Amino acid sequence: MSVIKEVEGRKILDSRGKETVEVRIKTDDGLVAIDSVPSGTSTGGHEDILVEPGLACKNINEIIAPQIIGQDVLLQNVIDQKMLEIDGTPNKARLGANATLGVSLATARAGALSAKMPLFWYLNRLFRKVSGVEIEPALPIPIMVMICGGKHGGPPRVDEGKHVEAGNNLCIQEFSVIGDLQTGKNIWHEIEKILKQRKIKYNLGLEGAFSAQLQYDEDALEIIDTAIKNLGLMLNQNIRLGLDIAGNNCQMTNENVINLWRNYNIYSLEDPFSERDWEKFGQLKIELSQANRDYLIIGDDLFATHKTLLQKGINDLVANGIIIKVNQAGTLSEALEVVSLAKKANYKCVVSHRSGETTDTFIADLAVGVAAEFIKSGAPIPKERLLKYNRLEEIKGEL
Ligand code: PGA
Ligand code: ZN
Repeated sequence: MSVIKEVEGRKILDSRGKETVEVRIKTDDGLVAIDSVPSGTSTGGHEDILVEPGLACKNINEIIAPQIIGQDVLLQNVIDQKMLEIDGTPNKARLGANATLGVSLATARAGALSAKMPLFWYLNRLFRKVSGVEIEPALPIPIMVMICGGKHGGPPRVDEGKHVEAGNNLCIQEFSVIGDLQTGKNIWHEIEKILKQRKIKYNLGLEGAFSAQLQYDEDALEIIDTAIKNLGLMLNQNIRLGLDIAGNNCQMTNENVINLWRNYNIYSLEDPFSERDWEKFGQLKIELSQANRDYLIIGDDLFATHKTLLQKGINDLVANGIIIKVNQAGTLSEALEVVSLAKKANYKCVVSHRSGETTDTFIADLAVGVAAEFIKSGAPIPKERLLKYNRLEEIKGEL
């Protein structure tokens, strides 16, 4: 048995240069587990509250630590519950979901060390307990963003004294390729070649995708299409396209969405509408299901990794996929409960990073542990994104 001896929260910087929280847990038998907390840029209205990182660390060190020191690290649910009790609000407004999540993830990592198991196996064991289902770990398929717009588009920047106009007009936040890592990397490089050939100015957005000076969303899709064809590839079961419209910031009609889906042979549509437009989601689902082709309507801001919202979505038939973001849920136990509910309703799960990331690879182990169908970790280029994909490659060897 390993008992928590020290819990320390401290501030680190994320991939956007913004402060976030890192938590270190030490046990009486000398184990050390460290995890950190991501955060979003296009955040939804139903996400749990992240408090200022300095305050989150203070809450960890002064309020949470004294309550969980002496606990067995294997008691994930007890520790998560304890934090919910101390917090006492419906959205972690007192402690901050960044405080609770950091402690929750580091507890699980310490638990895996104590159980002498790879993290993904340990998470799988926790997930079996939560869901009551004997599910085997499985590798997720990467959803890799290639071109970005919306809030991820990135403003024009000044480079070597020159103004490089690489902000873009695209409404859709993420234009992604769904497939294996190698294919994703090849397509990314081919897109860069095309942008250079066509003399289109570009920059890299928050997740390593191209923020290019394009006029229309269709231009981005045409470039991805050309890149795929240039490589002698084609869209099929192994290479698919996905969009995160991030509908809170990009207004589209049902017709707009269906036209894109049909004309560009798109598979997944994340947040096609605003988180307030439940009826539009439902209507889209009816229309796509009549079209006799695979589709995935994914709720991100719509569900905010919350059980109550997902249950409403299941009742109202609004989607068939869900984004799982641990920081939206605020504790690992709550995130596992959401995955469990999603699986029972036959929803496909997409474990996802945030645009503000750290080098933490927890989500790769989580995706495997719960056998999520997909993982979203940005373009396969920036270090903080690539580390998660590489961790999957490592797990592939271990499975
Ligand atoms: P965020 O965006 O991390 O900036 O919120 C990711 C997404 O919308 O999927
Ligand atoms: Zn999203």
